[in-house]
Amino acid sequence: MIRGLFAISVWCGAMALAVSAPARAAVPPGAGEPLRPLVAIQGLDPGKAALGRRLFFDPILSADGSISCQSCHDLSKGGSDHRARSIGIHGARGAVRAPTVFNAALNVAQFWDGRAATLEDQVSGPVTNPLEMGSTWPGLLRRLAAAPDYAAAFRRLYGHGPDKASVSDAIATFERGLITVNSRFDAYLLGDDNALNDNERKGYALFKSYGCASCHQGANVGGNMYQKFGFVGDYWGRKVHLTTADLGRFNVTGLARDRYVFKVPSLRLATVNGPYFHDGSVPSLEEAIRLMGRYQLGQTIPDGDIHLIIAFLGSLVGDTSVGSAP
Ligand code: HEC
Ligand code: HEC
Repeated sequence: MIRGLFAISVWCGAMALAVSAPARAAVPPGAGEPLRPLVAIQGLDPGKAALGRRLFFDPILSADGSISCQSCHDLSKGGSDHRARSIGIHGARGAVRAPTVFNAALNVAQFWDGRAATLEDQVSGPVTNPLEMGSTWPGLLRRLAAAPDYAAAFRRLYGHGPDKASVSDAIATFERGLITVNSRFDAYLLGDDNALNDNERKGYALFKSYGCASCHQGANVGGNMYQKFGFVGDYWGRKVHLTTADLGRFNVTGLARDRYVFKVPSLRLATVNGPYFHDGSVPSLEEAIRLMGRYQLGQTIPDGDIHLIIAFLGSLVGDTSVGSAP
């Protein structure tokens, strides 16, 4: 009823507009869709981004010079390591799967449980994590200051030698450049009907009609909200060994309602990056979507529909060469 009233008032408003404004602006292509095209972030300092890129690829960040950001976020392979759990310094196994760094700048917060508010805050996580890079800030800053070209680059760009803020800023600036623009799906949203084939179009329609887009939405097709894994069913009853990481956002807030709640992951590169879920427990995308149907939507999705949805997800993959050196 309320919805009906709302629709009528919108309709009347539109009528009034039509009467008072003789030439109405055309509705822009893609308006009203739950997904938005990716747009490159403007105004990034190219010098800082180049320094950040160098740091991203440099194992100097790890205590023993063995691991770089690239080790776990391989930019030539979708920005992740394709392992259920990453391998850090001295072969240590992390607690969760490495998400892609592509488009991470668009996330509402970083990490599966959102414990880092910004990309800058995020950097400290891997650098000092004993299971990832095993460094300390004083140790890393000493190593950077002792490398003449790094010391000079920081002085030139930041006016002083390397410190925690400038290292984090440079890396975050580089990451903000990792937006995978120009996917075929984005061309379709922007009005090119032929950018998608029939199956991809059908897959997008199913993605909307099943309700996937109620959680995986916006330009990043995810990354903009937190939701419980097991929204409509007990996903966790299936798992034999629960870990602390499985508690998700509960580990950040301590609130009972945040148990098993995770940042909804971006699906922009879902066809490129597996295995799936925060624990990397599901190797196949088909199975991940089947489980989403069952535990997030309370529906059994037939295989044919799953394959159409996967065809659509493939069309979301844009330019992953954005992290390449100029
Ligand atoms: C040993 C492997 C490893 C290394 C090295 C590593 N990461 Fe990660 N990264 C991960 C894992 C695992 C996660 C997920 C952790 C979590 O959510 O608790 C992650 C999460 C992230 C995220 C959050 C993405 C999102 O969608 O939430 C960003 C951004 C990121 N890493 C950037 C970096 C940068 C920059 C470096 C280098 C300074 C780096 N990582 C080094 C494994 C690694
Ligand atoms: C109620 C919210 C919600 C709905 C609806 C939903 N998802 Fe998800 N999805 C999530 C959350 C939360 C996760 C992360 C779960 C985890 O890893 O713990 C996720 C994870 C995924 C993943 C794994 C991504 C990765 O990188 O690991 C895929 C693929 C996926 N969803 C696809 C879909 C599809 C397709 C639909 C519709 C059939 C759908 N989802 C419906 C919330 C939702």
